[in-house]
Amino acid sequence: MGGAITVALLAVGLAACSPPPPAPPECTEPVCPLAEVARVRGIRVGAAIESYHVTPGSPYGDAVRRHFTSVTTENALKLSVLRPTPTTWNWGPADSIVDFADANDLTMRGHTLAWVNESSNQNGLPQWMRDLTDPATFRATMLSTVSEVLGRYRGRVDNWDVVNEPFEYPFGLLAPSVFDRMGPDYIAELFIAAHAADPDAKLWLNEIFAELFPAKADALVALVASLRSRGVPIHGVGLQTHLTLTPAPPNPGSISGLVTRLRNLGVDVAITELDVPVGPLRNEQAQVDIYRQVAAECVAAGCSEITVWGVGDGDTWLDTPGARAGNPLLPLFFSLPSTPLLLDADLRPKAAYAAVVEALRNTPSPP
Ligand code: XIL
Repeated sequence: MGGAITVALLAVGLAACSPPPPAPPECTEPVCPLAEVARVRGIRVGAAIESYHVTPGSPYGDAVRRHFTSVTTENALKLSVLRPTPTTWNWGPADSIVDFADANDLTMRGHTLAWVNESSNQNGLPQWMRDLTDPATFRATMLSTVSEVLGRYRGRVDNWDVVNEPFEYPFGLLAPSVFDRMGPDYIAELFIAAHAADPDAKLWLNEIFAELFPAKADALVALVASLRSRGVPIHGVGLQTHLTLTPAPPNPGSISGLVTRLRNLGVDVAITELDVPVGPLRNEQAQVDIYRQVAAECVAAGCSEITVWGVGDGDTWLDTPGARAGNPLLPLFFSLPSTPLLLDADLRPKAAYAAVVEALRNTPSPP
């Protein structure tokens, strides 16, 4: 609660377009710890993690505690992991991550219940759920599963990515998927069910590539405006921001512009899955520049979180055979290792980390 008051006071100060906040008083290092800078700034910095990262004694756990203030479940809360058969619940991995967040005072983001875009990983659903072709059965199973999961973690998962990637990649059309079996209003229904199960959780819609494709950004803004105008309990929009050097990263201003448009609808906005592989030419300076750009635009437009999709370069999803096989374009745009994160394989801060720290310290807040 003390933290909430501090954050509220900071928010009031920042809302008056104050100058950038000072360095944390305890910071004597050449590069201040990201978590400390972020706390002073009143923004969350997070990492996606798996349960093996938080086993006692793991260097990953220490790195997360030191550098981040929020964690996201990379896979542990996808229903394919959580409910492998109709009668089997695999709570262990998610429980250990939620316990770790609790024990270390980290904000917890639950990811994700309904991964819509079919081109991604079978929707994060177990095969038995995808096989429920009877619409009424699929609908009832999906809604009761949402209630069960949010009910179990009620009060412990601060932010939930309820719906992930509802759109096709570039054009801003809703992606056809198994969720269509629930009927045309399935997005609203999932949010309403989630809100009923945990009324205090902030509920998010999470999307990929909206910062790259204007038609997709427009469609996302229109969808959120429509949900808000109908009173659907949606509280935040996540921009995944998986970026590459080739094809080119977003034009300057497109992240801040989209964050502003979404915030004007009354929702929080977060960067939720940032990573930037160095590309076949191993252009580390370009990576640093993109991290700086994303962090500065996010802060300038008033977003509430920057989360990277992994702890260190040693175990990024982009280097796994599964991810590369699942998207035949990936191997064209970066070579292995992709080294896309803020910490290197030995969990040491990289130049991109220093750039994010500086952006957080030096970028003025929106008026
Ligand atoms: C990825 C995980 O990182 C991989 O381990 C898994 O094999 C596939 O899913 N967008 C999302 C995330 O919303 O859930 C994805 O995570 C990465 C792309």
